[in-house]
Parts: sequence; C-alpha cells; structure tokens
Amino acid sequence: MADKAKFIQELYSRYSAKGEYITLGKGMLDGEVVTEVDVKIPLKTINRHGLIAGATGTGKTKTLQVFAEQLSHLGIPSLVLDIKGDFSGIAEPGAENSIISERYAKTQLPYQPQAFPVELMTISGEKGVKLRATVTEFGPVLLSKILELNDTQQSIISIVFKYCDDKGLPLIDLDDLKKVLQYVTDNPQGKADLANNYGSIAPASLGTILRSIVALEQQGAAQFFGEPSFDVEDLLQQRDGKGVVNILRVGNIQNQPQLFSTFMLSLFAEIYMNFPEEGDSGKPKLVLFIDEAHLIFNEASKALLNQIETMVKLIRSKGVGIYFITQIPGDVPENVLSQLGLKIQHALRGFTAKDRKEISKAVENYPITEYYKADELIQNLGIGEAFITALDEKGIPTPLVHTYLISPESRMDILNDAEVSDLTSRSALVAKYEQTVNKDSAYEMLTSRMEQAVQNAPPTQPTRPVKEEPGVFESVMKSRAGRTFTTTLAREGAKFVLGMFGLGGRRR
Ligand SMILES: Nc1ncnc2c1ncn2[C@@H]1O[C@H](COP(=O)(O)OP(=O)(O)OP(=O)(O)O)[C@@H](O)[C@H]1O
Ligand SMILES: [Mg+2]
Repeated sequence: MADKAKFIQELYSRYSAKGEYITLGKGMLDGEVVTEVDVKIPLKTINRHGLIAGATGTGKTKTLQVFAEQLSHLGIPSLVLDIKGDFSGIAEPGAENSIISERYAKTQLPYQPQAFPVELMTISGEKGVKLRATVTEFGPVLLSKILELNDTQQSIISIVFKYCDDKGLPLIDLDDLKKVLQYVTDNPQGKADLANNYGSIAPASLGTILRSIVALEQQGAAQFFGEPSFDVEDLLQQRDGKGVVNILRVGNIQNQPQLFSTFMLSLFAEIYMNFPEEGDSGKPKLVLFIDEAHLIFNEASKALLNQIETMVKLIRSKGVGIYFITQIPGDVPENVLSQLGLKIQHALRGFTAKDRKEISKAVENYPITEYYKADELIQNLGIGEAFITALDEKGIPTPLVHTYLISPESRMDILNDAEVSDLTSRSALVAKYEQTVNKDSAYEMLTSRMEQAVQNAPPTQPTRPVKEEPGVFESVMKSRAGRTFTTTLAREGAKFVLGMFGLGGRRR
C-alpha cells in the first residue's frame, strides 16, 4: 500500500496554483478517490499545449468537454474541431443520472448542470457560422502549398498574384483566380501583358495549376473561398462572463483532406497575423481542441503537417493553446508531441505487440512515480479516469496522478436538429457571415475590371504580336487528366465545365 499521507502532501502542493486554474478532477490512490487532491491546471500554462489520448470509449471527448467547460467558466473561449460530430451537447444543460451523481459524490464536488454559450461553425455549407477566406488573403504561398505546386508553378502563382495586385484586381474566390489564369493564358492581350511585364510563363505550368485548382474545388473548397471572410477575433466572444465554445463540425475529413488543410492553414495564418504577442504571462486567449487528431495527421497535406509543427511553436506566444485528442500518443508526430505540456492519458489497450510498445513508450515519457505501477494501471484505468501530468506555474512537470475526472455539466450527447436550427437562427455571428457575395457579380465585376484595368494601364512596351497557339484551357480539356476531371465534373453539369474552361458559347 502506498503512503496516503505522503501522497496527499506531495500531490496537493504540486497541483495547487497561486493564480487562476481549472479543475479536471480528483487524485486517486489504490483505486480510491482522494478528495484532498484536486487536479488543477494553472491557466498560465494552458498555452503550453497538450494531448488527450486513450483507447476508444475511454472518455477522451468527455474530458475535452469538461476542459472546455472549465475554460468557459473563466471567460476563455475555445474552438473545437468536432470530427465525429459528438460534441454539440455542450450547448444544453446536462441531465442528472445515477452515474453522474455517483461520480460527483465520490469527488465531493457539487454537480451544477448548465449550458454553455456555443457557436456552431462550418466550412462545408452545413448550418452555422460560415468560415471563409478570400484567395487574396490566403495568399500565393499557402495556396501553392495546398495545391502542392512545385517551385516553378509556385513562382507563377506569385506572379499572378502580383499581376492582380498591380492591376487592382481583387481575387475573392476561385472563380476569380481561374478567370485571371484564363485571361493571361488564352486572351492575346492578357498573355502579352503578362509576358511583357513579368516574363513569359509556360502554358503547361498554367495548365497544371488549373488542374490542381479544379481538384481542390472538387473537395468543396469553392465554398471556403469567398466573402465575407472570417475575422478570427470573432472566435473570442464571451457571453454572461462565459467564454464561447466555437464548434466546427468537420465530419468529412477523409473525403475533403485538402479543404480541411486549407482551413487549418488559413486559421493558423490568421491567428498568427492578427493576435498580438502575449508572452507567457496571463491566461490563454483561445484554446483549440482537435478531436480525432489522428485523422488530421493521417490525412493532412505535407503543407499542413509542416505548418502544425511550426504553429505549435509560434502560437504559444499569441496566448493560444492547442490540444490534440487521439487514441495513442504515437498518432502525434514526435516533434509536435515533444512540445506538449499537459498529458491526459486515458486507458490504453495492450492487445498486440504494437499496442504494448505504445504503452511502454507512453509510460517511459511520464515522470517516474512511486505511487503507481504505471505500465499495469494504464491498461486498467476506468472510463473517465486518466493519468495526468501537467506543468506547474513555473513550467516544471507535475508528478503523474491517476485522476478521477469530473463529468461535464452540460449534456453528454448531441443536439437534435431542432436545437441546431434554434441555435443557429438566434446567432448574430451566423447572420453576419450568412450573406454570400454573389459569385456571378464578383466574377463579372472582375471580368470588366480586368479589361478596363488593362486598357487604362500605362503602356509599358508596345505589345508584341502574339502567335496564335491552342489555348491552354483547350489543351487541358484534351489531356488525359483533363478528361478525367471532365468526366467527374460532368455529374455537376456540363455547363459548369464549359464555362470554367472558357469553352462556352463564346469560343465555339
Ligand atoms: N467524465 C465522465 N463522466 C461520466 N461519464 C463519462 C465520462 N467520461 C466518459 N464517460 C462515459 O463514457 C462514454 C464514452 O466517452 P467518450 O465519448 O468521451 O469516449 P472517447 O474516448 O472519446 O471515445 P472515442 O474514441 O470512441 O471517441 C461516454 O458516453 C460516457 O457515458
Ligand atoms: Mg471521442
């Protein structure tokens, strides 16, 4: 039997905080809840990031719910990437049942069922706040990364952005970008203009870029690019003193990896550019939770993976904490894992040799403990129990503590359709981002502006006669890849395809 008095003394002091903190649960020793030991996480260290891991059904998402609730109580907003769609219940009060009352009785903490302020958000057209960015805001660098362009193609994209900048052509959505690409490729004047001022561009490269854009659109990215673009400050709302829990439902990540990566890159970039430096001092400004994070690491583009690593490093000083929720710690790349301050480890199952390897790896990374046989206990933790190690206010890792987590105060289930409709119809933020700038008019405006701008531009050099070559857009159509896209897109309507490639009535 471990020395309980010593346990209480040691753990109590290492898990107390001078400043503000959140409470996740109570310590446990020899399978019993020790009410004297509150497992507190100092707010000061929330921006040092973390991991919630554990086998399926062990309570990771509920822990995330408790975490987000506790932050909300202190006025701290969060953004939850809800990949399984099982998180929305936080907007409604919980219902007491025997499991919950028993749990709270053991912790001797009061159960106060309550709802939390929620904004539902979407990148793919479901109900909620529409998160968008303009192509200009997204910029040539990220765009090239997301399109997985090579250096040559990337420099072409940069030239095209520069051209648009010089000519005052706003790039709002992907149609705008395609229109410009078409103009500088197939229109003799556009072609000459670009060649004279920025050097000539190989039509083949433009064709490749175009195909990448079409592939991106097929994952639904057309909806993501547009106006009004999302202001990341809107993630920082409070209501009645509670931080708003922003929930982004991203159910279809397997089929839309590029769209999802686009969103994440854009979010990181916007946060980085818009949030001021906060240092390590105060409380976090925003906490980002990524549930089912293994999907992100599995499906994400290389661009996103590199960016995550960099952003985890940089975003801390902006007062933003990132928490990855996944089954095994090994799902998170080593260089990200090593930067995480808080580890909440639910039970792991040791079925296979690989499982057992993961277990010993997880245990090896914990502070040495005299109170638990960590490698055994980790496989036998109950649902809603976890090993926790955090950082104290000085940034020193706290001892490993077997924790009995509290239950969420909000509903441990999802919202029904009527509740979702009600929530989104009452949201001022939904209304703010609802109106889509008419795509046709943006596109038309650009067309006429493009022509006008070119006409009004001071003559740079006498325009050289341009040899008539088959248009790139026509070549794309004829190429194998182009045909594949056409076949797929045919389902979406032949008119769209023809219009997109500039092969509508005008040219036929
Ligand atoms: N803190 C808790 N208090 C009360 N019940 C809990 C708690 N944590 C988990 N549970 C119970 O366990 C169930 C599974 O929890 P949860 O959905 O959080 O698991 P998970 O680890 O996220 O699983 P998955 O990997 O499948 O997403 C919950 O529906 C709930 O009944
Ligand atoms: Mg879950």
